[in-house]
Amino acid sequence: MKVPFRRDRSGAARAAAAPAAVPEGAVRLGSLADVPEGAVRRVHDRPPIAVLRHGGTVHAFEDRCPHAGALLSRGTVNGDAVTCPSHRTVFRVDTGKSSGEFACRTLRTYPVVTVDGTVYVDPVPRSPRAARQGKCGDGA
Ligand code: FES
Repeated sequence: MKVPFRRDRSGAARAAAAPAAVPEGAVRLGSLADVPEGAVRRVHDRPPIAVLRHGGTVHAFEDRCPHAGALLSRGTVNGDAVTCPSHRTVFRVDTGKSSGEFACRTLRTYPVVTVDGTVYVDPVPRSPRAARQGKCGDGA
């Protein structure tokens, strides 16, 4: 029986086989063991980027609250969420979604790649601007 040839148009097979590359301008974090579990650490100043390792996965996000600019690296960690030290908005570091009285915008997140056992943060955000999520408590 002859099986018809079908071309993979998704590119998924190619992407899975291709080795990961270090993004241009990437921030080197070191090995996964160098990133402590459950602690927020600022790793880049311009743009301000912080990382949080949760459940073995490193998440990178903007270290500036989209409400009024407080440093999230000074916030409180609860699992995969960080609470802003100023007005207590809670941000999920994997999706950037927020909740709380001043939860009006999502937090920028950044891709994290591992190449040959070394973890890097790509300083180009997944979304170029923090998306509006709803109405802010103070109209910001
Ligand atoms: S500055 Fe973060 S919630 Fe207001």
